[in-house]
Amino acid sequence: MRLMLLGLLSFWLRAFLVSGVFVEDAFEIDWQVENLGHYECVLESVEQGAFIILSSVDSGTLMSFVNETDGKLMYRQSWNSKASDAMMVPDGRHYLLKDYEGTVFAFDSSSGLPASTYDASDVDFVSSCRPDLTDVKVTSHSLQVLEPETQLEVLRLNTSATLDTIVFFNTDYSSTLKVLYSTTDGTYVFKSLKDQEVVNEWVREDLTGEIVAHAFINLVDDSLQTISEELAKENAFQNVWEAYLFRVSTNWDRLAGTFRDSGYSIGRVLTRLLKIDSDAASADRDVFFGTAKLLVLATDQGVIQALDIQDGSKVWRFDCGFDDVLFLDYSQETRELRVFARDGRYELYDLSDAYKPELKTQTSFNGGNIKSLSVLNSEEYLVEFESGEKQVVALESDGQMAGKTFITDHDRNGVYGHVVGENAILQDTWKIALSDSEELVAFASRQNEPVATLGQTLGDRSVLYKYLYPNLAAYITLDAQKDTLYVNLIDTVTGELLYTQFHEDKIDGGRPVSIVFGEYWFVYSYFSAEPIPEQKLVTVELYESLEANKRVSSATRKPELLKKTHKPKVTSQAYLFPEVIRRLTVSKTKFGITSKAIIMELENGQITYMPKEVLGARRVEESKMTDDAKKEYMAMPYISTIPLNDQSIITHSRKLLTGRHSQLVSVAANLESTSIVCDIGHDVFCTKIYPSGQFDIMSPDFEKGKLLATIVGLLILCYFLRPSVESAKLKKMWLVR
Ligand SMILES: *[C@@H]1O[C@H](CO)[C@@H](O)[C@H](O)[C@H]1NC(C)=O
Repeated sequence: MRLMLLGLLSFWLRAFLVSGVFVEDAFEIDWQVENLGHYECVLESVEQGAFIILSSVDSGTLMSFVNETDGKLMYRQSWNSKASDAMMVPDGRHYLLKDYEGTVFAFDSSSGLPASTYDASDVDFVSSCRPDLTDVKVTSHSLQVLEPETQLEVLRLNTSATLDTIVFFNTDYSSTLKVLYSTTDGTYVFKSLKDQEVVNEWVREDLTGEIVAHAFINLVDDSLQTISEELAKENAFQNVWEAYLFRVSTNWDRLAGTFRDSGYSIGRVLTRLLKIDSDAASADRDVFFGTAKLLVLATDQGVIQALDIQDGSKVWRFDCGFDDVLFLDYSQETRELRVFARDGRYELYDLSDAYKPELKTQTSFNGGNIKSLSVLNSEEYLVEFESGEKQVVALESDGQMAGKTFITDHDRNGVYGHVVGENAILQDTWKIALSDSEELVAFASRQNEPVATLGQTLGDRSVLYKYLYPNLAAYITLDAQKDTLYVNLIDTVTGELLYTQFHEDKIDGGRPVSIVFGEYWFVYSYFSAEPIPEQKLVTVELYESLEANKRVSSATRKPELLKKTHKPKVTSQAYLFPEVIRRLTVSKTKFGITSKAIIMELENGQITYMPKEVLGARRVEESKMTDDAKKEYMAMPYISTIPLNDQSIITHSRKLLTGRHSQLVSVAANLESTSIVCDIGHDVFCTKIYPSGQFDIMSPDFEKGKLLATIVGLLILCYFLRPSVESAKLKKMWLVR
């Protein structure tokens, strides 16, 4: 009975805290760009009224079925080999793909599924991929079809001046014509003619190529700027009363200004107040709440493209001229977008107007090709060149660093510590080298983010102090010889090993291993083959002491980085998860007050999340829980398998094609409750999540009008009641007892 009650309780808690995407929200707050990739071959399925567009993804082929009438994507299928050529079989019901070994495979042209019963051996393979353009003349604004013998024009189609390549072409040389071509500004245009009339025409704006880098641009709200300036001014006053006077007078000026703007009419002021929530103001509101951002993507074709994070619409696009973009970065301070190429060149774009990027400079690092690049702060980067040399490069300033900076770097073979002194020279400090059979498979360091509480409050009101030493990193290595996974926690300043644990349950090295680091914990996932193949999720929590109310660190002294620090006390717990996890990340919010959620990209193309509390490292079996322990926030008895909650699948019915190099990222909005989550891979998907519910947003049924009307009503009532109250008072004074 108690177990049931507790189960019910935790269910309710979960139901309240994990607000899922509900029907009215689905497809409203999230969007997906279904990328078709670079059109390598286009086949026509006449029976379906569709085009079958072939493109390559990772090491396979993607077959996208696009409706010929309106250009909308119908569905996609993947084939895990690369196609070198394709052919539409004359019967129209099948098509053939040839791989690079020359083997031909048949597919059903109405579903894209392999047609294993179809015998392709007696079909003469003739490629359908290269449109026959011998009798076609392309001029700057039109395309002419010539009669094969007389070379006289039979059909003419107006085309855009930006026409680049014709990817599909079909005509009967008398009345019908179908053309699909790409343009230099990254779109695909389709037109079909019948008897001189345009029957169908559409444009697809697909991403050009595979995404290799991304960055977020915050659209800044200038009204927040004024407010923060006012607050700064207020803080500068020595005297509290002066500060108070300043606040009152500025607010008074603002109120007077509102009245002045409304022509001193109370009615107009009221209507303005009521209108604030209307749609016209919603764009401003998005900026104010920090949900207005641009997602900038760079593709392997050298295209830089910005999408609106609210709905995925294209904002701007340009060709950067690099075909090997390595990294994108946006600096909020200088409002600059930086594009780095693998060969060491880089470009800076001015984005003072976020809607109009302008090239400022193009230069290059001297050091040859770049192996990797990471951000240190808004001006400085750690660049590792292919020669093995590492440099700290400052883009604009004169390379002055404030004091010493410690940098930790890693690759497959080890973890390396560096220090940058005042002269901006990088020196090696420590190094963790792995053995030959060992490989580093995942790494996560503690991010410098605001911490809301120092401790975890237990059910009996005592506190477990979190281990909040800032310079921590955890990494996972896989030893192929011993089939063992090692998890290590290190101090990134000294390289000291603070904690280690390992797993010997026959790790599947072919499956992804992922790790995330939150404020005082880390969570990692791996797939093991023994005793039965299963996805595991392990939490490690770090405390100053496992004894309640015992604090080791000092509240007033900052930790001295190079002195011996106390090691964390660690608890850990492992869970099973029903789906294969590809990637993990943790939700980010502005102030770190909202409870953290673990966001997971699953191998089946879905994204889900769960509160970190569900993965608690201190969860114990029901029988071992004391009554006090049950009172703790979100206390739940330990259950080995964490169920997949349908409500928390944030991709709901969508299926993402994430690709091998996808990235799952979370960025904060100005609203503390809201975290923006994007998955950037072959497809792009973004949504918003509220790990603790939308506690800072008024519910839609909040009746502002009624509230204001009540206030006005009360004021009027006061106005009328005043004379009678006055006279009552007067009478009372004259009353002779
Ligand atoms: C293609 O689009 C047209 C127009 O939107 C629609 O009428 C038709 O049913 C679609 N065809 C398929 C196969 O979905």
